[in-house]
Amino acid sequence: MPTSAPFGKTTDGTEVQLFTLRNANGVTATITNYAGTLTSLLVPDKNGKLGDVILGFDDVSGYTSPAFRKANPYFGALIGRYGNRIKGGKFTIDGKAYQVGVNNGVNSLHGGKIGYDQVIWQAEPGTSADGQTLTLKYLSKDGEEGYPGNLNVTVVYTLTNDNALKIDYTATTDKATPINLTNHAYFNLNHGAGKDILGHEVTIPADRYTVVDAGLIPTGELKPVKGTPFDFTAPHAIGERIAQVPGGYDHNWVLNTATGQHSAATVYEPVTGRTLEVTTDQPGIQFYTGNFLDGSLKGKGGTVYGKHAGFCLETQHFPDSPNEPRFPNTILKPGETFHSTSTYTFGVRK
Ligand code: BGC
Repeated sequence: MPTSAPFGKTTDGTEVQLFTLRNANGVTATITNYAGTLTSLLVPDKNGKLGDVILGFDDVSGYTSPAFRKANPYFGALIGRYGNRIKGGKFTIDGKAYQVGVNNGVNSLHGGKIGYDQVIWQAEPGTSADGQTLTLKYLSKDGEEGYPGNLNVTVVYTLTNDNALKIDYTATTDKATPINLTNHAYFNLNHGAGKDILGHEVTIPADRYTVVDAGLIPTGELKPVKGTPFDFTAPHAIGERIAQVPGGYDHNWVLNTATGQHSAATVYEPVTGRTLEVTTDQPGIQFYTGNFLDGSLKGKGGTVYGKHAGFCLETQHFPDSPNEPRFPNTILKPGETFHSTSTYTFGVRK
């Protein structure tokens, strides 16, 4: 069974816990019930040495501090009710107009002002046939951040013996609502060596990406990546062409396979030999290169998180889908059960 220990108090004095999941290879994942945040993940390098590949803090106060709230990087958090952006925070379902929390310029990002990244989840450690688990539950009430319907969300983290962290998302609602659940972990497979992520080699099996406007809202165009710095169909170092992308990568790729479990990204870090493979059943992935990290946050072991200190691979539906009928559906209706699985598998290449 996973173990648990105190992880400090939130700003209103509520005690939260840190759960440690272990597998047969000594790999550990720590997750807190505050935001369901993945705070660390120790995986081997090519010499078998364990190292932490996740950006985060030693204590919950790091995640609730004024500096963190200001920078708002969503380190390791579960994201909902709607991950990524909704234009103007507005959408219409069955003729009824809704306005949800606006927190990113004029748009809504990652659930609004107080998304699932700032709430306490009910946590239950356990064991399944695949490995140690942490089950997290949250009832997102009708009207929370302006969203319709009571949404019952369950997220199960499983650490398997083949060094994979599997995340299962399940949700039901009593009113039709948009839903887009993901995890916002920042990875650095060479973390601790004081390096940014620009040397990591990334592959994304996507021939197209969603073109966005200045507010990072999709225009509706699915543009071929061929001949552009967005082409990761073959491996490229993150830093190779990033200067050609104003601001850095912060885009949604349209995965070539949209149904069943499929590859969403693979990453190789040449110094440590560590690899990461992401699989999902979701149609898209937001590849974000930590462009807004500015050194204002100091994390575990005093590490300063500067620009490109980590990258996110957020499996998801496309941004602003509730306003774009051409994108895959994100509306969950009463009587339906939303279910999705994304898996992050770690390995080494020698
Ligand atoms: C978004 C970025 C945002 C970041 C917050 C990402 O998912 O795409 O634009 O700044 O989350 O850390």
